Amino acid sequence: MKNEGDWKVFRDRWMARKNGVLTQVNELWLKAAPSEAKREVGLAVNEIKVQVERGVTDAKDHYENVATLRATARDRGLYPLDISLPGVRRPIGAEHPVVKTTNEMVRVFQKLGYSVADGPVVETDYYNFESLNFPPNHPARDTQDTLFIAGQQAKPQRERLLLRTHTSPVQIRTMEKMRPPLRIVIPGTVHRNDPPDASHSPMFHQIEGLAVDTNITFGDLKGTLDHAMKEFFGSSVKTSFRPSFFPFTEPSAEMYVSCFICGGSGRRGNDPCRPCKQTGWIEILGCGMVDPNVFEFVKDNGYDPRKVSGFAFGMGADRIALLKYGVDDIQLFFQGDVRFLRQWA
Ligand code: DAH
Repeated sequence: MKNEGDWKVFRDRWMARKNGVLTQVNELWLKAAPSEAKREVGLAVNEIKVQVERGVTDAKDHYENVATLRATARDRGLYPLDISLPGVRRPIGAEHPVVKTTNEMVRVFQKLGYSVADGPVVETDYYNFESLNFPPNHPARDTQDTLFIAGQQAKPQRERLLLRTHTSPVQIRTMEKMRPPLRIVIPGTVHRNDPPDASHSPMFHQIEGLAVDTNITFGDLKGTLDHAMKEFFGSSVKTSFRPSFFPFTEPSAEMYVSCFICGGSGRRGNDPCRPCKQTGWIEILGCGMVDPNVFEFVKDNGYDPRKVSGFAFGMGADRIALLKYGVDDIQLFFQGDVRFLRQWA
């Protein structure tokens, strides 16, 4: 409220005889009240009236003060600076829960000496599939429902563009640029042609890892990932490795951590533990020893499969954030509702 004009509009809105809020309160509440409630409603309406009158008087004081301050400022040559106006309040942003989870996980690996690498979201067939030992037309490609960029048919298959379905192509891209030994973490956005529901989103996030050196063993893989999970979830979690298949690792495994919600018991009091489906274990990532066929694609940059070995892993950042924060619908992460996101502020 800057001047008398503003104040008059404000005063009339509340106090005008004809249409002001107070008149309406009188008409709609007091006059309409049943006779036995008249006394009580009358008292309440009076109280409102007193408060409104006080508010309107205060507002007048305020604009008069503003005017005085402004005049003083002008007299002292401070014009146009207007010290009487309220300051601009800039809301402080907060990390998105998926970004927060990603950063925390990346940090765990950085402390082990890993550096961060990244690559493009729009990827070629070569990096997303072929160089990761998914040959053209191989059925393993069907495990990753792919969103293809239109109009690519004229190109040779390996050059055709798609939205990367995983962060694994950055393994090859980085090995092309950097010679071994190599230790990298790769956070990033990926896409799959999955219809959205509470646990699926066509866009989601992964954190990938790759370590290559001479004499890297499955023991290094287990030791590193077990340590990382204890850092991230707390020192009491256990890990369990179960055989699996990925074209770019051999052998491959899925890693589980003991359920950090029920402590591995499968139960919460008398209720079944839902996040681990009462098993006491939660699947966290895929991993394995880098397949020699993958090294063949970057052999000329020092990755001779007879000389180096390595392990790799990949996990879903959104899924981990869901579990960690007890959120029951992944869609909430991507709807941008400030009331939801404010919880991480
Ligand atoms: N890229 C795999 C996926 O999206 C996850 C994965 C599994 C990554 C095993 C790895 C790995 O690096 O070794 O399903």
